[in-house]
Parts: sequence; structure tokens; C-alpha cells
Amino acid sequence: MQKEFSQNDKNIAAYALNTFKPEDNILKEVRDRAKKLEIPAIHVNDMDGKHLEVLIAMANAEKIIEVGTLAGYSAICIARGMQNKGILHTIEIEQKHYDAAKTSFKNANISHLIKQHLGSALNILKSLEQEGSFDAIFIDADKVSYPDYLTWAEKNIRIGGIIIADNTFAWGHINDSHFETLELEKQVKGIREFNQRIANNSNFKATILPTGEGLTVAVRIS
Ligand SMILES: C[S@@+](CC[C@H](N)C(=O)[O-])C[C@H]1O[C@@H](n2cnc3c(N)ncnc32)[C@H](O)[C@@H]1O
Repeated sequence: MQKEFSQNDKNIAAYALNTFKPEDNILKEVRDRAKKLEIPAIHVNDMDGKHLEVLIAMANAEKIIEVGTLAGYSAICIARGMQNKGILHTIEIEQKHYDAAKTSFKNANISHLIKQHLGSALNILKSLEQEGSFDAIFIDADKVSYPDYLTWAEKNIRIGGIIIADNTFAWGHINDSHFETLELEKQVKGIREFNQRIANNSNFKATILPTGEGLTVAVRIS
């Protein structure tokens, strides 16, 4: 039988959290403040934040795009991986989320590493093309657009750069054939197309890490 991250065992999950300590007071405050502001609690989870930090550091990424800022939790993790150099462009469509993230970046002392963009990700990505190529992209916004974000990333991530995308098990529905709603079906199909295309793209080496949500990770090799 295949097992999930932490071997489906709460005891092992607790061990991982206690050992690697992914969430400090700065990150916890982001979750708490977002809740008070009634921002949806759809931040990456604590261990996934740590995965992001390590992946960004491993790639030596300094010029990075994030699609989907929310209250800034994952952006703080990415910025920590950048080790105080470079620029993270983070894109958000909701003013309220953008404003909450601004406070988060100030509190985390990382405002100098962040350029926030407010608007539809596809429009903003287009306007950022001239500043490329980029070292890394983290995709974590509307799932229907994952294939479009991939098309952009395939063109604008440099050789050696990485693509990371969250929720790629589609909340457990990635391999379903029947869906309760049309909206869910559209989202799952977007994620499925994203996974299939990156898996088949010979310019990348790609895998899906069996985190709770599924984290697709790819590195451009040619
Ligand atoms: C899952 S949340 C991002 C969570 C964040 N990455 C974190 O872990 O802290 C997705 C965010 O994407 C934003 N979003 C959705 N569609 C978007 C679009 N087309 N362009 C830009 N942002 C979008 C939502 O408003 C929401 O804040």
C-alpha cells in the first residue's frame, strides 16, 4: 500500500513538526490575523511552507514569481529561501488580501524583497515577461488557469529554474471521473492538464511530491 506524507501517522507528523519547526510566531500571526479579517484559511500548511523555503534555497532562486498571494504566508517562506537577496513578484487579485499581505511583509521584515502586484495574474504575468527570465515560479491561485500559468512558465523560466504548484492532488479528486459540481470538474481538469503537460514536457524533469495537498515540482533542463 502506498502511504501519504508522514505515512498516514499523526505521531510521525507530530515528529516532523517538532523536529523541523516550520511555523514561527511571524507565520502564526499571519494565520491568526487573516482569520480575524475573515480571509479564507487557504494558506499553504506549515510543512509545505518549509518545503517552499528549502526548494527555493536549493535552486538558488533570486528572481521569483508567486501566483496567489493571499495574506502572504507562502511569500514569507519563499523570501526566507531567498536568503536576503533578489526579488519576489507576488500577484493577487483581491485588494483585501493584497493589503493583509503588505502588513505581513512589513512584520516579517521582508518588504525590501517583495514586489506586490494587484490584478488578474494572466495580465500581470504578461507585463512581467520583459523582466525575465525567472528562476522560479510558485503557482497557487485559481486552478482553472493552471494550464495557462504553465504556458507562461514554460517560456519564462530559465534553464535550471523551477516550477512549483500546490493542490495538485485536487483535494483528493485528481483521478476521479465523476464530479459533484461543474465548478469542481473544471478545477480538477485544469490541474490534471497541468500535471500531464509538465510530466510529458521533455524540457523539464518533473514529479509530484506526496504532501497532504500534492506539490508538483519541476526543474527546466533544456
Ligand atoms: C490558495 S490562495 C494563495 C495562498 C498563498 N499562496 C499562501 O499559501 O499563503 C489563492 C489566492 O489567489 C488569488 N487569486 C485567485 N484567482 C486569481 C487570479 N486570476 N489572479 C490573481 N490572483 C488570484 C485569490 O484571491 C487567493 O488570495
